[in-house]
Amino acid sequence: MKIALLGNGKTGSHVLSLTRNVQGTGVTVFNREHPPERSALSGHDVIISFLPGDAFMAFIPEIVASRVPVVTGSTGFEWPDGREAFSKRLRKEGLVWVHASNFSLGMNLMHEMIRVLKMSGELYDDYRFSLHEVHHSGKKDAPSGTALSWKQWLEQPVEITSERTGNVIGEHALALDTPFERIAISHSALDRRIFASGALWAARQLLEEDAIDEPGLYDMRQLALGMIRDSIETRQTQNTR
Ligand SMILES: NC(=O)c1ccc[n+]([C@@H]2O[C@H](COP(=O)([O-])OP(=O)(O)OC[C@H]3O[C@@H](n4cnc5c(N)ncnc54)[C@H](OP(=O)(O)O)[C@@H]3O)[C@@H](O)[C@H]2O)c1
Repeated sequence: MKIALLGNGKTGSHVLSLTRNVQGTGVTVFNREHPPERSALSGHDVIISFLPGDAFMAFIPEIVASRVPVVTGSTGFEWPDGREAFSKRLRKEGLVWVHASNFSLGMNLMHEMIRVLKMSGELYDDYRFSLHEVHHSGKKDAPSGTALSWKQWLEQPVEITSERTGNVIGEHALALDTPFERIAISHSALDRRIFASGALWAARQLLEEDAIDEPGLYDMRQLALGMIRDSIETRQTQNTR
């Protein structure tokens, strides 16, 4: 697998370290010194981006023109004309991109838990949600992309607070408060390698022949659910034999 790695900072550098001794995998690094231009990008099997959102956004025309599949973890930017319109554009161009505000595989489990919490309106008359996120002091965007994804999954009003301190990799806690009880779920990233390893997992999925049927913009959960669905189907087939 020939990887074009955009951004070799705190997160992207782990893509390099995790692939260093993997046979058949080569990585070309793009950063400020070596900007990702279309001619240099083309010929790679996949682009993995851990650029800050504003830089990623600026390079979108070059990346699209390279026609290389993309796995991007950049946060703190808006898709040109909105996510749906951008996905439509990729479909038209026949390109597949995957975006995740958090590449930790555990986020798929958090998503399911948030889907359960979302039903609180059917149980309680009086309740409120709050979400607190903590990241290292160098993080540019606030609230974090993960906090915004959780809010979107919750489909309920939620007060988000952000804290920037020290070297914290990423902590998110969502609480549901009623007058008589509190339910809280949280996720802490303990090692920055989880993001690089999740992005590499997504890249491998993307390059599997039948992992994605149609071009467009996907999120990590759609990839993970595709795999879960496949394994359920395999199990069902085995059970009926
Ligand atoms: N989705 C996830 O799972 C996940 C997890 C963690 C972080 N992130 C996101 O990933 C992004 C990067 O985070 P980080 O903490 O790794 O940042 P970082 O340590 O600041 O690294 C940023 C990298 O991007 C390069 N870069 C910045 N501006 C550029 C430009 N204009 N042109 C070319 N290269 C440029 C830098 O190159 P130079 O070294 O040459 O300056 C550096 O290699 C952020 O958006 C963050 O929120 C996502």
